[in-house]
Amino acid sequence: MMAALVIQWLALASLLAGGAVSLDNGLALTPPMGWMSWERYRCNVDCTTDPYNCISEELYMEMADRLVDQGYKDLGYEFVNIDVHSRGLKLGIYGDIGTMTCGGYPGSYGHIETDAMTYAEWGVDMVKVDGCYANETVFAEGYPAMGKALNATGRPIVYSCSWPAYLKDVRN
Ligand SMILES: *[C@@H]1O[C@H](CO)[C@@H](O)[C@H](O)[C@H]1NC(C)=O
Ligand SMILES: *[C@@H]1O[C@H](CO)[C@@H](O)[C@H](O)[C@H]1NC(C)=O
Repeated sequence: MMAALVIQWLALASLLAGGAVSLDNGLALTPPMGWMSWERYRCNVDCTTDPYNCISEELYMEMADRLVDQGYKDLGYEFVNIDVHSRGLKLGIYGDIGTMTCGGYPGSYGHIETDAMTYAEWGVDMVKVDGCYANETVFAEGYPAMGKALNATGRPIVYSCSWPAYLKDVRN
């Protein structure tokens, strides 16, 4: 069951126009691997009536323990979506370049530098930036700005950018 929950992320590099552009910051030289709650648990936070299908601190801690105990970490599955640095794992988080996330939580639109600084202060190692509640102008301005802002924090943070997924000619 755990195997089904282990997600492998692909790096953005191959999707960049021209194919020759990549940031030499030592990050994501191999595909970042780890555990991500979205595919199985979505945005369900109702642990009262739906305890086995909700996201909670307990869920992240349990999955972090399993990544370590069952040997996944040794194989390179080192990212988890919440703070588990104490187990030697890395923290991944989710945001959105638009006004709201796909689940309706606040997005980074108008707060890109603040959000990048906040991620760095929280000790985030990877951020996925989704593209709901945005348009092509917001993508074209926001995604590069987020890249620059993350770089400017000085903390090595893998940037998982959803930009290409939202462009019509890439999506089909
Ligand atoms: C920022 O980008 C430069 C290249 O432009 C890179 O050398 C450096 O490692 C990056 N820093 C971080 C923290 O990502
Ligand atoms: C794109 O979205 C932003 C943020 O909601 C908005 O201010 C802007 O007017 C939109 N532009 C277009 C062309 O729809």
